[in-house]
Amino acid sequence: MRRKLVVGNWKMNGSLAALTEVSAIAEAARRTPGVDAAICTPATLIAPAVARSGGLPIGAQDVHHRESGAHTGDISASMLKEVGARLVIVGHSERRADHREEDSIVRAKAEAALAQGLQTIVCIGESAEEREAGRAASICTAQLAGSLPDDWRDAELVVAYEPIWAIGTGKVATCEDIGEIHAEIRRHLVGAYGERGGRIRILYGGSVKPDNAAAIFDTPDVDGALVGGCSLTADQFVPIIEAAGRG
Ligand code: 13P
Repeated sequence: MRRKLVVGNWKMNGSLAALTEVSAIAEAARRTPGVDAAICTPATLIAPAVARSGGLPIGAQDVHHRESGAHTGDISASMLKEVGARLVIVGHSERRADHREEDSIVRAKAEAALAQGLQTIVCIGESAEEREAGRAASICTAQLAGSLPDDWRDAELVVAYEPIWAIGTGKVATCEDIGEIHAEIRRHLVGAYGERGGRIRILYGGSVKPDNAAAIFDTPDVDGALVGGCSLTADQFVPIIEAAGRG
């Protein structure tokens, strides 16, 4: 039995003033003990968010694959850990697009994060054109093959399926489409890792909202959600966490 995991991705949003939302979300998460919740803030807010989060895990949205060195503007896994981050998102489609991150670099980032003990969420997902061409499943399994580590030891590996066309658009995938891709991901994970692959949590992301969360969480092989816009306020995020608690 895999516990549901609901992670907020604040993307390039938020401020010190917005950390009151983190406190409110943390309080609600404590009242929903069957669910794991977390928030990935911009890097500048990790330390102050940790101070306000009352134990709710706070994470980052990216990490460099090396430990240190001449990489202007980048942040390593040990640096994230030092300021209290407990998880990190890697390979988000916005980073794959904005920073031309390919599978091989996503995999290196995942390995670096896992080695530092950070729970690591590897994102995959197809574009609208790829889906229309009937290639959604094959694109996702190719991304998994290229982006996931061969092995990992020190922390939890999580996969997030985020169809690009559903991100920030209000267009949510149907539960049938989500179920099909999640089943395909599960087959891949079991093929790659055996019995251990059956324990990896698979999150759905893309326009998850209070009013569609329950149906998504009821879909087989959906172990939680990666939530963008609706994670920015307790008003919207708490009902999603609560829906996971009922799922
Ligand atoms: P939205 O929930 O805003 O569609 O964003 C999804 C996402 O990209 C989470 O990582």
